[in-house]
Amino acid sequence: MTAMQLKKDYAGRDFISLLDYSAADLQYFLEVADYLKAEHKAGRPTPYLQGKTMGLIFEKSSTRTRVSFEAGIYYLGGQGLFLSSHDLQIGRGEPIKDTARVLSRFLNGLMIRTFSHDIVLELAQYANIPVINGLTDLLHPCQVLADLQTIREHKGKLAGLKMAFIGDGNNMAHSLMNGGARMGMQVAVACPEGYRPDAAVVAAAEAAAAESGGSVQVLADPLAAAAGADVIYTDVWASMGQEAEKAEREKVFGGVYQVNDELMAAANPGAMVLHCLPAHRGEEITEAVFEAHPEIFDEAENRLYAQMAVMALLLA
Ligand code: CP
Ligand code: NVA
Repeated sequence: MTAMQLKKDYAGRDFISLLDYSAADLQYFLEVADYLKAEHKAGRPTPYLQGKTMGLIFEKSSTRTRVSFEAGIYYLGGQGLFLSSHDLQIGRGEPIKDTARVLSRFLNGLMIRTFSHDIVLELAQYANIPVINGLTDLLHPCQVLADLQTIREHKGKLAGLKMAFIGDGNNMAHSLMNGGARMGMQVAVACPEGYRPDAAVVAAAEAAAAESGGSVQVLADPLAAAAGADVIYTDVWASMGQEAEKAEREKVFGGVYQVNDELMAAANPGAMVLHCLPAHRGEEITEAVFEAHPEIFDEAENRLYAQMAVMALLLA
């Protein structure tokens, strides 16, 4: 099989929010991700990053993002550099804008996992190489690109499917609303009062849904959100950086915002369950539901291929 000739249209762009891309763009990213997955599984090399370097800046912990980026860069023939903020001069106060300009002189691309979304925006503003958002307090677009790939693999389509997110109106809820709405899905989010998604993100997702024929609903009742859903999604009640709120959040979310058998009974028969991981069994999801849905690990696996597609296209 001849290697896929990738479009150059995305060369030099950043990957910060899914809404920076059209539905056709995301569709193409998913096609490239599927192609890279098939090639990798067939043992055929895909050297789209031959001779290229990616810096991977982490200000928060990670298992999946770190390992899938590092392995993915290697499989694409490039070299990844793990850059922990504990070791970088960022940790001692060097400004992001200086770090961006210096690293741009050494590298071909950057990924960053950080707290404030403004840090990614500033990094991208000052870097003259592509910047990929590996999670902020606001968004987690790489995860959702992998989620869309997984849903498409299992359900054969995206548009018209209903996806329910149960839990905190956090970075995952935001990116799922963005990606789902862009691709014509019906996205229903159930969150407790005070933990609803950001109003500006909801408005942007609603605008995307109006274009794509999808919809966005923000509800309080998890069973109402799950009703007739094809995909049930959840995430931790307390995200990284919210450790001090853990006890309070357990009180607010406990017993209600959980993916359990009762919630699954409200969803469509054969509904998928997805979780970005790490999962807290007995909190946002029961052990029984978690273990009954191995597609959660297909989802984790697809981080590798979705991100390989993003890097191959942006660093082309
Ligand atoms: N889902 C996800 O991003 O996992 P990590 O925090 O392990 O990278
Ligand atoms: N909402 C979680 C996602 C982890 C992948 C967090 O930000 O910690």
